[in-house]
Amino acid sequence: MSPLRGKKILLGITGSISAYKAPLFVRLLKKSGAEVQVVLTPSALDFVSPLVLATLSERPVFHAFVDGSQGHQWNNHVELGCWADAIVVAPASSVTLAKGATGLCDNLLTAVILSAKCPVIWAPAMDLDMYAFGATQNNFATLESFGHYIIPADSGPLASGLEGQGRLPEPESLFSYVEHFFGEKGSMVGERVLITAGPTQEPLDAVRFLSNASSGKMGWALARSAALRGAQVDVVLGPVSDFPFIPGVQVHSVVTAEEMFHKTLSLFPTSTCSVFTAAVADYAVATPEKGKRKKTDEPWNLSLKPTLDILKACGQSKQKHQKVIGFALETDNGLANAQEKAVKKGADVVCFNPANEEGLGFGSTHNRVVMVNASGIIKEFPAQSKQDLAEALWDTIEALSVVK
Ligand code: CTP
Repeated sequence: MSPLRGKKILLGITGSISAYKAPLFVRLLKKSGAEVQVVLTPSALDFVSPLVLATLSERPVFHAFVDGSQGHQWNNHVELGCWADAIVVAPASSVTLAKGATGLCDNLLTAVILSAKCPVIWAPAMDLDMYAFGATQNNFATLESFGHYIIPADSGPLASGLEGQGRLPEPESLFSYVEHFFGEKGSMVGERVLITAGPTQEPLDAVRFLSNASSGKMGWALARSAALRGAQVDVVLGPVSDFPFIPGVQVHSVVTAEEMFHKTLSLFPTSTCSVFTAAVADYAVATPEKGKRKKTDEPWNLSLKPTLDILKACGQSKQKHQKVIGFALETDNGLANAQEKAVKKGADVVCFNPANEEGLGFGSTHNRVVMVNASGIIKEFPAQSKQDLAEALWDTIEALSVVK
């Protein structure tokens, strides 16, 4: 269950092109079970539709102290400030940030912020030079000194055509930040979790590679729920499309099995619990060609060499306080093979997931798992979304004291 269920989130939206992301953010908040009250600044009205926001949030949207359309209804800023469990300003323009830092309240949103009895989280969005400007940076520091929180802007292409830091993070990232905020003091505070995830790519030549269909979703779901429980998480991630930023999760991008091996081994000594979900290539091309190989009528015979086994290297060198959890992707004799892998690779437990069941496992959003150790089955987890499964796996891992 999301820690946001039943939480009251007041979403402040200011005048910024990136306000187009706000309706999607509202949807994610609502889907998690949060109540959402949207308050716009007058200039936000130029960028996003109150009708869309009111429909998605299932509440009227406010943008003025007095709402003339409803018979001069008074929108009470103090009441709104007291109602919220958190105020999130996304996007936060430089002018609204400056008003927040100096206590200038000339619209409903800034008055609500001054009346807040709850955490205030700002997600700045502006052009790169405005973001880097000394006064803006000072405003961030001032707001933080009030106990407010700043979500750092993303880097990338900006509405101005320039490129740099200033982009509003994607709705999924904003959502993860807020969810993490409420889930922070969980049962895994103090744990250092290391997760391998995704496929690896082994080059054949300068433009071709050997890989597999792993999506990295199982590893990502485990990372997200461990972070929500308070763990500090490192993910060594093979080449898959970007996942949203999650506070508490540090991503280390790698491409080949060899790179994944070295990065994971360098992080392993400080980890307390490691989970190996990556679909690491078992073979790499012995001598990949440096340039692009030209097409001929002759067959291309490749010589493949085995890669190093990352789980085995960690499992066999682990200390007493370190727990190691493997995954086993199997088509035949799944349970027996998974058990054998647990023994051979020195894993405390291995999660068998079938590779040949429609809609499950590899590359899909759902999975089914049987957790085994050297002595037999520990628990069966029925088919469910990878996110729900990640929660259930951590519940069991924690209950079994596989961690702690
Ligand atoms: N694994 C690893 N490094 C490798 C190969 C596998 O860390 N070079 C890990 C996987 O992340 C997984 C476990 O070992 O946690 C089992 O992986 P799997 O692909 O099921 O089995 P393999 O050991 O590769 O054996 P096989 O392909 O013969 O089943």
